[in-house]
Amino acid sequence: MDMKAKWQERRELVEAQLPRELRRDEPLDATLCASMEYSLMAGGKRLRPILLMAAADAVGGRGEDFLTTGCALEMIHTYSLIHDDLPAMDNDDYRRGKYTNHKVYGAGMATLAGDALLTLAFEVMLRQQGADARTKLAVVQEMSVAAGMNGMVGGQAIDLESEGKHIPMELLRQMHMGKTGALFRAALRCGAILAGASEAQLQALTHYADAFGLTFQITDDILDVTGDEAVIGKPVGSDVRNDKSTYVTLTSLEEARQLAAQTVEEGVAALKDFGPEADFLRDLLRYLTKRDK
Ligand code: IPE
Ligand code: IPE
Ligand code: MG
Ligand code: MG
Ligand code: MG
Repeated sequence: MDMKAKWQERRELVEAQLPRELRRDEPLDATLCASMEYSLMAGGKRLRPILLMAAADAVGGRGEDFLTTGCALEMIHTYSLIHDDLPAMDNDDYRRGKYTNHKVYGAGMATLAGDALLTLAFEVMLRQQGADARTKLAVVQEMSVAAGMNGMVGGQAIDLESEGKHIPMELLRQMHMGKTGALFRAALRCGAILAGASEAQLQALTHYADAFGLTFQITDDILDVTGDEAVIGKPVGSDVRNDKSTYVTLTSLEEARQLAAQTVEEGVAALKDFGPEADFLRDLLRYLTKRDK
């Protein structure tokens, strides 16, 4: 099966499982639950759960077995998008081709929907079948570090503080590795941990994940300039409007493209000791520089 067909097949698994995890218990507040579901089910590429499953495949496991943990990670990602779009952050009106959560439910409920998705994610991780308590603890640790002050939230803080400034390239790299790279790192590492990876495999997949995260955010910065709103489902020009520091604003489109291509090669090289079970990961990383959404 080629990369895109596999991506689609697993995307459908994620789409079907997310509402089951969200609606397992009767909600205390129907509006809050509807607001969470609105963003969670608005579409999206579902890359993080797909990478989590692909990492399990790459070390000889069965990716589908870890769909539950993949859904938990997608909940953390969706929370990060809801908060990223808030008026106090990027103040964007569209996401995944629809109005942003706060445009529909108001900033207060959108904040709560994000909070509740983040906490639900940890409950869902603990529902993972076929993993012992020790393995689940390792997964929870990976996820909490990736989502928090030295991961996604830390990167978002650098992003906020960098508005209107010319920041050094090293800080830009740290910002990208935090706000975007950390959840990709969690995806690869958690999939590998759940499938019983060796220490060497875990190291290699971590290098791949870091290359993936950096390439992904560089191409996100490029699409903010060159993308088609109808295809990317979110506003073009958001970074310029907010005076953000990005690879495009700090260097140039051409240099950003070159760096992305170079980073792809580093990520593919990190998988040199893996066999054809890792072809999906290789193909997906190469595809990033060609993506239009
Ligand atoms: C958007 O992530 C936020 C960034 C980290 C750049 P995605 O581009 O994966 O968003 P969805 O999930 O497909 O909507
Ligand atoms: C934010 O980066 C990444 C997170 C949500 C953590 P961006 O602000 O560039 O993401 P988009 O472009 O709005 O998706
Ligand atoms: Mg942002
Ligand atoms: Mg944004
Ligand atoms: Mg962006």
